[in-house]
Amino acid sequence: MNKICFFDTKPYDKMYFDLLKEAYGIEIDYFEPKLGPRTAFMANGYEAIVAFVNDTINKETIETLYQNGTRLIAMRCAGYNNVDFKAAYGKIHVVRVPAYSPYAVAEHAMALLLALNRKIHKAYIRTRDFNFSLNGLTGFDLHGKTVGVIGTGKIGRVFMDICKGFGMKVIAYDPYPLKDSDIHYVSLEELFKESDIISLHCPLTKDTFHLINEETIKMMKKGVYIVNTSRGALIDSEALLEGLKNEKIGGACLDVYEEESELFYEDMSYVVIQDDVLARILSMPNVIVTSHQAFLTKEALHNIAETTLKNCRDYFDDKVLENEVCYRCGRGEVCLRKENKRCF
Ligand code: NAI
Repeated sequence: MNKICFFDTKPYDKMYFDLLKEAYGIEIDYFEPKLGPRTAFMANGYEAIVAFVNDTINKETIETLYQNGTRLIAMRCAGYNNVDFKAAYGKIHVVRVPAYSPYAVAEHAMALLLALNRKIHKAYIRTRDFNFSLNGLTGFDLHGKTVGVIGTGKIGRVFMDICKGFGMKVIAYDPYPLKDSDIHYVSLEELFKESDIISLHCPLTKDTFHLINEETIKMMKKGVYIVNTSRGALIDSEALLEGLKNEKIGGACLDVYEEESELFYEDMSYVVIQDDVLARILSMPNVIVTSHQAFLTKEALHNIAETTLKNCRDYFDDKVLENEVCYRCGRGEVCLRKENKRCF
């Protein structure tokens, strides 16, 4: 048995990891706090640790982990924009779960879009109060509308298939378009100009930071709906708020928010929220916010636990780390992993 520790534990994580841990010969100590510079000391003596999307895995955190003997960070998620890979390189291997259920995220994106467009969030509250009025609940047919998908990876492609099922016209942008596919690629500018709905499915990188901003919003159709189930900082929240206020943006479906790390996944209902932009966005009738829950299906939780535990097992067994990522291979550059070795 090898022992690992687990940061930012929630009951649903523990349930799925506990079901599978024995099969992988791994014991787990669960910690409630998020991983960051002030909590990294808790991993003292654990060679491998498990972390998540809103942990702060910066240079300081990595240095403390390394000094205390950690050599593997197993991210139980696909995205890794919160890891300082340069600081980790040569010291701590970083592995992730590249795919656990693109369906979970794509279906949630469509659920948000349908709910917002058909005002289900309003209707649900009204009928529970015996208010059966339909005033203000008018939506539009998705059929025949143009949806612009940014990022045609695993999740983007599932979302496109779902949209096609609704009879929507699907256009897409990706700097690395898939060869030999029937995807109708357009330039980013064309996508902004043509789309009735824009859905984000690209990673957060230097290039995609604030992809939706004051200038790009200006290019969009009046009344455009924006769906973001990817990463919060793809959208400049202040520009989004302005677009909603001046009604250029007709609706926003947000599973992620750029300043979510101190808020999402926690019960903040007794706290005075200091983020005025979020508070104002949440007050809009044409916005639905969920708390980074697009991944939350039974299938995804099972797959996350399975791949994370396998990643840890492979590390302890000195095997090649199939799901390792470093600052080189993460950007598609030459890396030892391409020769079927560990990144360093
Ligand atoms: P993927 O790696 O399969 O696809 C990402 C696609 O984005 C690739 O085709 C890539 O070429 C493209 N891309 C890269 N740079 C781009 C740019 N500048 N503009 C447009 N496209 C660009 O990733 P996958 O699995 O489809 O996930 C997409 C994103 O979804 C992840 O990066 C993550 O941030 C987010 N996600 C959110 C979850 C949630 O619970 N809300 C759960 C899982 C992932």
